[in-house]
Amino acid sequence: MADSFPVRGPAAPVASTGDHWVDHEQLCQQIEELRRREDATILAHYYQDGEIQELADFTGDSLQLARAATRVDTSTIVFCGVHFMAETAKILNPEKRVLLPDLRAGCSLADSCPADKLAQFQQQLREQGRRFQTVTYINSSAAVKALSDWVVTSGNAEQIIRRVPEEYEILFVPDRHLGSYLEEVTGRRMILWPGSCMVHEVFSVQDLLRLKRRYPQALTIAHPECPANIREHSDYVGGTQGMLRFVGQLQEPHDLLVATEANMLWQLQRKYPQHRYHPVPGITCACNKCPHMALNTLEKLRDCLLRGEPEIHWQESFDRAGEVLRRSLLE
Ligand code: 13P
Repeated sequence: MADSFPVRGPAAPVASTGDHWVDHEQLCQQIEELRRREDATILAHYYQDGEIQELADFTGDSLQLARAATRVDTSTIVFCGVHFMAETAKILNPEKRVLLPDLRAGCSLADSCPADKLAQFQQQLREQGRRFQTVTYINSSAAVKALSDWVVTSGNAEQIIRRVPEEYEILFVPDRHLGSYLEEVTGRRMILWPGSCMVHEVFSVQDLLRLKRRYPQALTIAHPECPANIREHSDYVGGTQGMLRFVGQLQEPHDLLVATEANMLWQLQRKYPQHRYHPVPGITCACNKCPHMALNTLEKLRDCLLRGEPEIHWQESFDRAGEVLRRSLLE
């Protein structure tokens, strides 16, 4: 295979590496060839575009993807998700090459909790004589994970919270909505960091209630990153894998109002096509798409395999973050 593809797409140039145009099928074929040539496994989060999920070797929620990354037998992992996910895959697999199609695919939650600010706040709490453990949502940087006692995902957070001995207070970072949901379900009071996800934060309860009036029989499923006023109108609250489990056990076809990133509907539709899915729009609509996830495209997926970059490189904080991650997610 040539080292660069002459590529341009039908609607817009799909890459800057050549002069010709390739259609969707050719692009998928190029990815297929490169995947083999580069000995790569493609992992994709449920929030990626359907066309990326379609050709991934494995799709999942944050927890499943972190675990799947430790079972990959190829030398390269291409992580179609956001930066902290690829970073987690690298931390758990130091010997593997981990590529992320677009290095700018960040996370508003991770951005809301810089490590130096967290360290400062933890120091203040210690000076006040408070005994606490820091429980950190996986949507955070490795440097923040390194300052933590536990890392949780929406899939295992309840279990981990129940493992924190009662004599400790819990400092939960960075998602205040997930934190308040965990307070409700576990009965543990927590000190909550004031971060939130830019996608789930903007869901409007008025929009949800309007949809409920339009589909009075519909069930509402919401991610725990949603604010309490959305969660309280929901029939099921859980992470993306939990949503799939909930929908999977419904006997009859239903209308489902889905309060999470809109690409989740692709996975729901694919697994359980007997139901009708309606995205809960944000206040101005279309804002239920994560702009960071959307930075990864098929073209960039191909190009990162072709060029071997962007790659996640080892950093000092990864050693300590790895201990916390393994204890929290793998044991
Ligand atoms: P889950 O993958 O745990 O459902 O969480 C979604 C998310 O926040 C991805 O950033």
